[in-house]
Amino acid sequence: MDGVTDPAFRYIVARYGKPDLQFTEFINVEEVCHGSDSAWQQLCYTEIERPIVAQIYGADPDRFYQVAQVICELGFDGVDINMGCPSKNVSARGCGAALIKNPPLAKEIIRAVQCGVRDWASGHRIETIGLRSRVVHKLMAKSAPSAAFEKHRPLLPVTVKTRLGYDSVVIEEWVATLLQEQVEAISIHGRTLTQMYRGQADWNAIARAAKVVHETSTLVLGNGDVESMTDLVERVRESHVDGVLIGRGCLGNPWIFQQKEWARAEMQRPTGQSPVGEVNLDERFNVALEHARHFETLGGSSRFAAMRKHLGWYCKGFPGAAEVRARMFKATSSGDVQQVLDGITDDLKGRC
Ligand SMILES: Cc1cc2nc3c(=O)[nH]c(=O)nc-3n(C[C@H](O)[C@H](O)[C@H](O)COP(=O)(O)O)c2cc1C
Repeated sequence: MDGVTDPAFRYIVARYGKPDLQFTEFINVEEVCHGSDSAWQQLCYTEIERPIVAQIYGADPDRFYQVAQVICELGFDGVDINMGCPSKNVSARGCGAALIKNPPLAKEIIRAVQCGVRDWASGHRIETIGLRSRVVHKLMAKSAPSAAFEKHRPLLPVTVKTRLGYDSVVIEEWVATLLQEQVEAISIHGRTLTQMYRGQADWNAIARAAKVVHETSTLVLGNGDVESMTDLVERVRESHVDGVLIGRGCLGNPWIFQQKEWARAEMQRPTGQSPVGEVNLDERFNVALEHARHFETLGGSSRFAAMRKHLGWYCKGFPGAAEVRARMFKATSSGDVQQVLDGITDDLKGRC
């Protein structure tokens, strides 16, 4: 999620939730090829996050071909193509969910990424694919492959994340188009581009798409409005998807993924009990502080404002939370976060 699933947040999610996989924020292929520092920062990850999939967006198949190889060289576990972003400045350039309206280009982009992944796996040297020299230098500085990595060049899975349609639901025809390119998985957010984030995600439409996808070996993942593992079990039961992506439901709540084994077991039973209870406030605050410190460790001190939204998400659902959030929104360092937390009385913690 853009502006959210940065390396510091993914580290915290990996430590306290351990989902089956994580995605980077969506990363623009032009910016990667241009050598933009912010795009290259988005391509940072650590081993604890594995399996980690890099998500990319753009509209130029040649750039996708190059960036697919950059992603392979950096050792990611998969490449996901964003065909779901509804934001105006993305879709107006023909990227993200605008590709739903342009199936020929969408297919060409998928083929370009698959070709990049295949070429890299068969031994293509990254220096020879037309990248600018500053990009090659960045890559060399980052990847420095070990001898073992040099020998093993895995063929990364290529996947697509998309929506139900542009301004109307066309998901059955749209997944049929995507399936022609034999992607490994299709993730579907149950809204159209014009809906943005309004209304409820339409899991009936996701279920219809899942039926089409299940006639092939491609996996289908559903997405939208899942805020608990109880929600997740219900959505899987009604839609028969192979998996679920959780976005907003993990904001301030990396622990949500701890209950995934409960959900798996629950899916085998006709009815069941509720998953284990919420984490206590002490742990939530400790993790908020650890997250803030880790954000600084990864170079975030000068842009600490970007951390504040996460602090707000951790501080929800207890008496006096609004007041604590207001103080967190003024924090300019992890030291300030520590001070806010120190100032919360034992009385408040006791009440929760
Ligand atoms: C702030 C924000 C940033 C997002 N950025 C991305 C992104 O970079 N790539 C992507 O595929 N989806 C992105 N999404 C969409 C989510 O991944 C997800 O599809 C959507 O929020 C619905 O799922 P949810 O109800 O579980 O959040 C973003 C959503 C939000 C709210």
